[in-house]
Amino acid sequence: SRRVTVRDIAAAKERGEKWPMLTAYDAMTASVFDEAGIPVLLVGDSMGNCHLGYESTVPVTMDEITILSAAVVRGTKRALIVADLPFGAFQESPVQALRNATRLVKEAGVGAVKLEGGERSAHQVELLVSSGIPVMAHVGLTPQSVNAYGGYPVQGRGEEAAQQLLRDAKAVQDAGAFSVVLEAVPAELAAEVTRSLHIPTVGIGAGIGCDAQVLVWTDMAGLTSGHVPRFVKQYANLREVLGGAAKDFAEEVVGGSFPAKEHSFR
Ligand code: KIV
Ligand code: NA
Repeated sequence: SRRVTVRDIAAAKERGEKWPMLTAYDAMTASVFDEAGIPVLLVGDSMGNCHLGYESTVPVTMDEITILSAAVVRGTKRALIVADLPFGAFQESPVQALRNATRLVKEAGVGAVKLEGGERSAHQVELLVSSGIPVMAHVGLTPQSVNAYGGYPVQGRGEEAAQQLLRDAKAVQDAGAFSVVLEAVPAELAAEVTRSLHIPTVGIGAGIGCDAQVLVWTDMAGLTSGHVPRFVKQYANLREVLGGAAKDFAEEVVGGSFPAKEHSFR
């Protein structure tokens, strides 16, 4: 069976079908999501926070994204794999964006890339798409701008900000993006953006009115420690399950009950 393509994504919007997206950063986890039927997996630069131990997505490098994207591609058979262009890998120019996106397609084998920004990134989107690389755009809250925001504030509040968000979404659609992430946007505005576009919107903290929904997998599965944003729903408590397994193993080693006969060669 073949992989999901951007044509399938376009067809889903025409049929009014909603779809889920999760992040993935390694082959094994990606294979679980692929087998669960998640059609699109994002090798997000959120790997900076939840996988590489950075405090934001800002330090993530092309090398890091490329290596983990290749692992996710190898671990999957069916999902469309989308890789983030990290901070500093596309802002300089459309040519820089194309060079780095090409690396993700050729070295890692991803089917599409994602980059942050609406109007400000439209020229990048245009060159990538005209070069044959499908692009998922990302507007609203763009975490690579954390130093400019001074945090992670909800976007699009107030008439002026709402109009800018609509312009941003329209700009990336016109530039040829096949879909657009709306992050941390009031639900009513996200629904309005979704109605006004012919490409699907992928919401995160953007309410029920989007065409698709994405969550960071470690948040969704309850593996993240400490604070998780309000828009996250935890569908499992992996931190408890995994921590419990580690404690049981430790106890049995210290207490001398592991390994038992059946785990030993004779
Ligand atoms: O890096 C990421 O995980 C993302 C999603 C939250 C959209 O960009
Ligand atoms: Na990201």
